[in-house]
Amino acid sequence: MDYSRLYSQMARIGVGKPNSAATPAQPDLISLVYGLPDPSTVSTSDLLAATELVLTEHRASALQYGPSQGLSELREFLAERLNEREGLTLAPGQILLTGGASQGIGLIARTLLEPGDTILVEAPTFLGAVRAFRLSQPRVIELPVDGAGLVTEALDTALARLAGEGVRPKFLYTMPTFQNPTGATMPLERRQHLLGLARQHNLLVVEDDAYGDLRYDGLELPSLLALDRDGLVVRLGTFSKVLAAGMRLGWAAGPAPLVRALTALKDDSGTSPYISHLALAWAGGGRLDPHLERLRRFYRERRDAALAALDRYCTGYVRWSRPLGGFYVWLELDDAVDAALLRRAADRLGVDYLPGQACFLSDRGERYLRLSFSFVDPDRIEQAIQRLGQALAEAARAPERR
Ligand SMILES: Cc1ncc(COP(=O)(O)O)c(C=O)c1O
Repeated sequence: MDYSRLYSQMARIGVGKPNSAATPAQPDLISLVYGLPDPSTVSTSDLLAATELVLTEHRASALQYGPSQGLSELREFLAERLNEREGLTLAPGQILLTGGASQGIGLIARTLLEPGDTILVEAPTFLGAVRAFRLSQPRVIELPVDGAGLVTEALDTALARLAGEGVRPKFLYTMPTFQNPTGATMPLERRQHLLGLARQHNLLVVEDDAYGDLRYDGLELPSLLALDRDGLVVRLGTFSKVLAAGMRLGWAAGPAPLVRALTALKDDSGTSPYISHLALAWAGGGRLDPHLERLRRFYRERRDAALAALDRYCTGYVRWSRPLGGFYVWLELDDAVDAALLRRAADRLGVDYLPGQACFLSDRGERYLRLSFSFVDPDRIEQAIQRLGQALAEAARAPERR
């Protein structure tokens, strides 16, 4: 049976082309490809204690179907926490629990997009989100990102041009804090400029804040949701990077009518009450902040190991970002480095990175790569970047041929 002839348009886009055969992994390959949280950061005994608490004190509701919007106790916890820390006034009804931020992204697309609608995204961006948006066949406009995040002047220009064409974009998808993949963080003035433009054009802003709790240096900045006074921001959060990605637990917070619409399209009978209770039992009672402090120390050491190794082994071939938080360093190859040769040398030397093309929708990014430092211990990070430095040296054209 040729099942593909049964597929919906959406499924056809999602299935796409089959992956080309994967090259067999080398035994000693060090991968800096994926932004995986390190499960060793979560104590087994804490999780066991939380599980026991759930099964003794919340057994009936944890093991039963729950509301579509998600466990009210966890929504109350999140609302209280966000309100306290950021001066928000969210009601629990303004929060929807989701199967990770990924599900929030998918729900936003299905709730808001018709084929042909225009959306604005950063370039580079988290392509996982853009792939989800693309199932709804929007016209996607890419906006540049620099060392301070989304270039808001470019947003201004794009919005003016679209207004001239009589087009109102459905939303802007942005990661103002520790952007994936650049690690860039938008300063306060840019956040304010962005929100001013959103107000002027009545533009909905989807703020993806997957890494916001993982700041290693500098002062906290208010989120776009915290700065917004006009109901123009919906913020996505997740337990993936601070507790466990395997829990598949996140949330969307924003204007109540929009959260109700997102909830209406949630077709999984609600995010797992069991996992929601578990996260609450684990995080509640003041345990979350000390955990986050440990987590920041843990990942800061890895970030520092990556930056020190880049200084030591890669200077002269590549420029890189110095992220204040999150999981990623973004590298731009100097002109002398041949990207294809680099790939081959890196494969042979046993280091893997995310090629920049994976972060642009358009055919760009060849001169960039993303390194994730979250999943590899500091010694291995240094070893990986030493290999990368060697690969860069091999891939740099000899001076006389430049
Ligand atoms: C920016 C960003 N948003 C969302 C996600 C998805 O997170 P979740 O595991 O909560 O679905 C990721 C995962 O890497 C991410 O980097």
